[in-house]
Amino acid sequence: MFDKKTYIKRRSLLRDDVNTGLILILGNNESPMNYPANPYPFRQDSNFLYFFGIDKPGFTGLIDIDENKDFLFGEDFTIDDIIWMGPQPIVRELAEKVGIKNTGNLRKLKEQIDNAISRGRKIHFLPPYRAENSLEIERLLGISNINIKNYASKELIKAVISQRSVKSKEEIAEIEKALDISYEMNMAVMNIAKPGKYERELVGEIEGIISSFGSHYSFPTILTINGETLHNHFHGNKLTKNRLLIIDSGAESPEHYASDITRTLPVGGKFTSEQKDIYEIVLESQVYAIKATKPGKKYRDIHLKVAQVIAQGMKHLGLMKGSVADAVEKGAHALFFPHGLGHMMGLDVHDMEDLGEDLVGYDDTVKRSDQFGLAYLRLAKELKPDFVFTVEPGIYFIPALIDKWSSEKRYKEYIDYSKVEKFKGFGGIRIEDDVMITDNGHRVLGRRQIPKSVKEIEDIMV
Ligand code: GLY
Ligand code: MN
Ligand code: MN
Repeated sequence: MFDKKTYIKRRSLLRDDVNTGLILILGNNESPMNYPANPYPFRQDSNFLYFFGIDKPGFTGLIDIDENKDFLFGEDFTIDDIIWMGPQPIVRELAEKVGIKNTGNLRKLKEQIDNAISRGRKIHFLPPYRAENSLEIERLLGISNINIKNYASKELIKAVISQRSVKSKEEIAEIEKALDISYEMNMAVMNIAKPGKYERELVGEIEGIISSFGSHYSFPTILTINGETLHNHFHGNKLTKNRLLIIDSGAESPEHYASDITRTLPVGGKFTSEQKDIYEIVLESQVYAIKATKPGKKYRDIHLKVAQVIAQGMKHLGLMKGSVADAVEKGAHALFFPHGLGHMMGLDVHDMEDLGEDLVGYDDTVKRSDQFGLAYLRLAKELKPDFVFTVEPGIYFIPALIDKWSSEKRYKEYIDYSKVEKFKGFGGIRIEDDVMITDNGHRVLGRRQIPKSVKEIEDIMV
């Protein structure tokens, strides 16, 4: 965990931002795989981690805004627990490490909440995403878990998002530790992605690297020769020469900050000329996007410019036609680039998505579009210093989508379907880096940049 001053300051800022009442922040519990004592790897709730720092199951944090007091609730371990788990710190010791003097067990938490309710005090909580925590809020506050999200505090959500969106130096350092692991993972794949290997062998290799750092992935690894399926988690294919391989992967730093990197590699080590043509368009659009990021720019505007770079490239290859500006305005490019340019990143790989994508990525000046493609843009609002986010354009040839649009003659004035047809089976290309906004520009995060030019990749792979 960070120094206690970090958590004291974060809670104090939160208290300043929320008007009155109590703020209840639940930690996560163990989540069983197939019987209670056999859990999935423990992952603490990111909001709890951010404000209370304790990376263990079974804790609840409470902030009393009006009395200016913070509380930590949890159960001390019994001797039976200690026999199985080894010596454990007591609640009071853990609380001390994050600057909290007031502690109690879970019965005391319930009493304190009951007392606040009886006095008509407001209790703010965040929208739960695990069933256990919905039930716990129901138990504590008496709100039916069915519509519990409707009762989550908008005021608290907004305050948390505004604080967590701006990363401190120590948070950036954590993200760069996660990126150190990403560097090793991606360099390893470039060296072992040979024809005849199975995707699962490569996944084993890179997830082994994550484990060797004592870490865990920040999201389930996407590693596939069928990269046209955006979130493809199947790892059973054999790599064959001249297929493209997408690796979209990330690790967590010791304090659970994420990295999120995508590279696309030619199996066998050399891009075909067709692959190179498409790759260069994606790379040009990604480099363009990174260069365009600076304070005051709306990410949606950059996304739309990137769509134009992609459409221009596709027009140059004869796959699109007509006015590029019109094609992008109407959404024709989304046949090839159907997702958003990126998302905020921090303690979560899609940072704070539990609090609501629109509240994180949009604001009063930018509303989410319902146009196919643009609708999936997760981050659209104005960029501010110390925001961290991904830049991840891609071009995909999705047979089912091509067939659908082609049969509907959709955007036929902008798309040459006879040419696109020949690209079915091509797969997909995505290139993703993690970027922070500085006071007057941006910085691509990572102490060592992961190769992405055609030449760099081919030089490593052959
Ligand atoms: N975790 C997949 C992505 O957003 O890149
Ligand atoms: Mn990714
Ligand atoms: Mn991403």
